[in-house]
Amino acid sequence: METIKGLKRTRRCGDFTVEDVGKTVTAMGWTQVYRNLGGVIFVDLRDRSGILQVVFNVEKDKEMFEKADTIRSEYVLAVTGEIVKRDPETVNEKIPTGQIELKAKQLRILSKAETPPIYIEENSNVREEVRLKYRYLDLRRPDMQRLMELRHRVCKLARDYYDENGFLEIETPVLVKSTPEGARDYLVPSRVHPGAFYALPQSPQLYKQLLMVSGMDRYFQIAKCFRDEDLRADRQPEFTQIDLEMSFVNEEDVMSVNEGFMKKVFKEIYNIDLPTPFRRIPYQEAMDRFGSDKPDTRFGMELVNLSDVVKDCEFKVFADVIKKGGSVRAINCKGGDAKLSRRDLDGLVDFVKIYKAKGLAWIVIGENELKSPITKFFQQEEIDAMLSAMNAEVGDIIMIVADRDQIVYDALGALRLELAKRFELIPEGSYDLLWVTEFPLFEYSEEEKRYVAKHHPFTMPMEEDIPLLETEPHKVRSRAYDMVFNGTEVGGGSIRINNQELQSKMFHALGFTQEDANERFGFLLEAFQYGTPPHGGMAYGLDRLIMLLANRDSIRDVIAFPKVKDASEIMSGAPGLVDQKQLKELSIKTNVLKEEIN
Ligand code: AMO
Ligand code: AMP
Repeated sequence: METIKGLKRTRRCGDFTVEDVGKTVTAMGWTQVYRNLGGVIFVDLRDRSGILQVVFNVEKDKEMFEKADTIRSEYVLAVTGEIVKRDPETVNEKIPTGQIELKAKQLRILSKAETPPIYIEENSNVREEVRLKYRYLDLRRPDMQRLMELRHRVCKLARDYYDENGFLEIETPVLVKSTPEGARDYLVPSRVHPGAFYALPQSPQLYKQLLMVSGMDRYFQIAKCFRDEDLRADRQPEFTQIDLEMSFVNEEDVMSVNEGFMKKVFKEIYNIDLPTPFRRIPYQEAMDRFGSDKPDTRFGMELVNLSDVVKDCEFKVFADVIKKGGSVRAINCKGGDAKLSRRDLDGLVDFVKIYKAKGLAWIVIGENELKSPITKFFQQEEIDAMLSAMNAEVGDIIMIVADRDQIVYDALGALRLELAKRFELIPEGSYDLLWVTEFPLFEYSEEEKRYVAKHHPFTMPMEEDIPLLETEPHKVRSRAYDMVFNGTEVGGGSIRINNQELQSKMFHALGFTQEDANERFGFLLEAFQYGTPPHGGMAYGLDRLIMLLANRDSIRDVIAFPKVKDASEIMSGAPGLVDQKQLKELSIKTNVLKEEIN
């Protein structure tokens, strides 16, 4: 194989222009296409910047021509020659270098290539498993290269922006004690301390708060986080946050600095002037109107509470639900009659069952009659009141769920999104950024039979709700906020508790004894005794942010080497079994032996 000894690449393939005509240059790259037309061979040479057409002419140099004839897809070449203008009939308007070509004088084949298992082309529709197995080839594709470039640019913008605003980039450790986000930890065994484990950080939360105690004033970091949770399209076990924390601030300060960041990103990436401040929607309003704490407000179809209208009705399902403290809510699928068959409606009944709803009642508003399995249970006045509350018109379908509030929200919130997707209600290219505020401080965990922190245990309650901490914890709202971008939670944070008495109350409400708290977070609590500034911050999911900016459906597309659903990495095969010797050093015994698996 040949080397580049003595040769220097003039510049990237796609960066040559008509200005270079007449110059002798050297280009290096991969073979996108080669065509032998008898006396001439054309090779499209590709790199990150684009494509340059190279021409080998048999009459110029027979030996080189024969060598060029051995070139195949993805061979890596170095070609020296002269940039010339293409003949008018061969000009390719579609690519920036379409006016020119490189007339080869010298060819070196730097590396041969097997026939690649996937085409290296824009938007190839190869199965994702194959793409991930050969991720290094998948990443050669121009669309993937653009995504990686976008990710790089956003990271650079983050560094510049937070720097300009007085933030210091500080690294925090990766081998840590368990952090408070509440997902399952990834553990790393300690060799030196047999039986003891580090946790990989679910976020830098505790450390960034300690940095505020240290007087760093404003911290930021592009940080790797690890959470052993079930994967989804927008969730990876290992993901990246743009993480930040600020001293002497309230929520408005944190939100406004971050609106500034998004403004900058939109300007630099899309040349769009993003209006600020973003809309703020209190959590309860988001749930009541959209059935979601990350509402997509780019279309209507808002939820309507029909509980008052139907509370005395004869339909037992509805009346019972209301008696038990639940609610009956509905959405109006405008013009749905023309678009949804009876079978489609049955499908939607199954759809809401995914969200634990027991059924989906519907009313089709026909020209002269209502079609519905439930109207027979209602008085005419009740029906009229429902239709009027729903602004129902001929052709609409009212879809109703009765259940515990959370189930109603989940089912109708998801149904609303599903219908928007099916009927393309979200205008192409539209975007929507907002804050959801005033989250509940706690949520009840059925599994643990106690209240758990909705955000984390250091989140500050809203001042006016503090008296409820001990009496009605479920009613306490927090000073937490999430940034929502096109219906995805792209970031979240809060103002933190910096008062020990309040922190004790919080632990108490969470059912932690002081010992439990000391065991888990003792070092932070101790630090807080030495002068803690009021502080708060947030973290963006960088992968999600890039996914949304690039208008992709999966964060796997914007992560160079992502994991798949079972948390494995297809290409390398991680996680893998290890030798007994390694386990022994770590004082670990497993009941799965490498030999048994092999
Ligand atoms: P939170 O847990 O809300 O807050 O995480 C912040 C943001 O990180 C993203 N995110 C994820 N992205 C991909 N895969 C995952 N598994 C995943 N989990 C979360 C989301 C989310 O909004 N320490 C706090 C922040 C703070 O209070 O300052 C925290 O980690 O976009
Ligand atoms: P049933 O009385 O079970 O035959 O239900 C009559 C209709 O009410 C069916 O269309 C069900 O899908 C619907 N339904 C049943 N339970 C609920 C519920 N909890 N919320 C909304 N609709 C329901």
